[in-house]
Amino acid sequence: MEQELLRLKQEAEEALAQVAGADQLEAFRVRFLGRKGGVLTGVLRQLGKVAAEDRPRLGQLANDIKQEIETRFEEKKAQLTVAGADTDSGRIDYSLPGRYLPFGKLHPVTQVMEEICSIFEGLGFAVAEGPDVETDYYNFEALNIPKHHPARDMHDTFYVTDSILLRTHTSPMQARIMERQEPPLRYVVPGKVYRCDSDMTHTPMFHQVEGLLVDRRVSFADLKGVLTSFTHKIFERELALRFRPSYFPFTEPSAEVDVACVICGGSGCRVCKRTGWLEILGSGLIDPEVLKMVGYDPDVYSGFAFGLGVERIAMLKYGIDDIRLYYENDLRFLSQF
Ligand code: PHE
Repeated sequence: MEQELLRLKQEAEEALAQVAGADQLEAFRVRFLGRKGGVLTGVLRQLGKVAAEDRPRLGQLANDIKQEIETRFEEKKAQLTVAGADTDSGRIDYSLPGRYLPFGKLHPVTQVMEEICSIFEGLGFAVAEGPDVETDYYNFEALNIPKHHPARDMHDTFYVTDSILLRTHTSPMQARIMERQEPPLRYVVPGKVYRCDSDMTHTPMFHQVEGLLVDRRVSFADLKGVLTSFTHKIFERELALRFRPSYFPFTEPSAEVDVACVICGGSGCRVCKRTGWLEILGSGLIDPEVLKMVGYDPDVYSGFAFGLGVERIAMLKYGIDDIRLYYENDLRFLSQF
């Protein structure tokens, strides 16, 4: 019986090697592994007739061989499926619709950030990027915010060490850009910024686009003109703008710019905190102190800078009333953009 089993194993292996299609594979299965009339089943049945002392050993061998053949059979089946040989037997229906492959999209914040940059590119600005992990020098000192200046309180800074931090705004790039080239220059800087703050209108990480223009005789009127044409383009209509006097240590004069709240139409809602206006950026003419620190002569050159809040602009553009929606990664939200 042992001989018979080994011969059977070899025979099965040879037969399997010849199998070239689904029909032949099925024939193989019936012949060797079939429950009724399969060769292997037949041999196993005869186990009852062998001497009792040989039975455990032969039983074990028979089972091993059966397992082996089954494994080989499965391997062959997988091979044939991959090779597409199944089509011989017409198992693939070519008229079935294709499998749906879900495709990804850019995050709405990324989309709006790119759109902002391309509007400014249309106005002659170049795009530059800077590091998220910044030095205290560029984030504060170079922007006329010395140590212990009260303006540091506005920033809720995440410190890495005493002199290294996560940038709290994109303004550090003002000094980095001006240091490495002479005017005239026009740049926008998109990027992530970080502040230790979290509620319905604030997240610990958010996005800004910094704008910077330096040349001879740049005035506040230039700033106003650029920002007005930008807002009209990004919101695709002539939304009211409000330039509100403000203070930043690195600009003089400074203004915060609000647009009419499109969520409530200006009548007041929880998003605009009942004011009817939403702040979208901080701006101003670059403080002469800042120009001096990068080695520019403030009597020759002047410039303006602004920092836009990207999430805010996207909220207004799409009527989103909770900034946290951007970061929950709910596909029902994200797939709408
Ligand atoms: N950096 C300021 C902020 O984060 C915005 C700003 C940029 C103001 C440039 C003036 C000029 O709030």
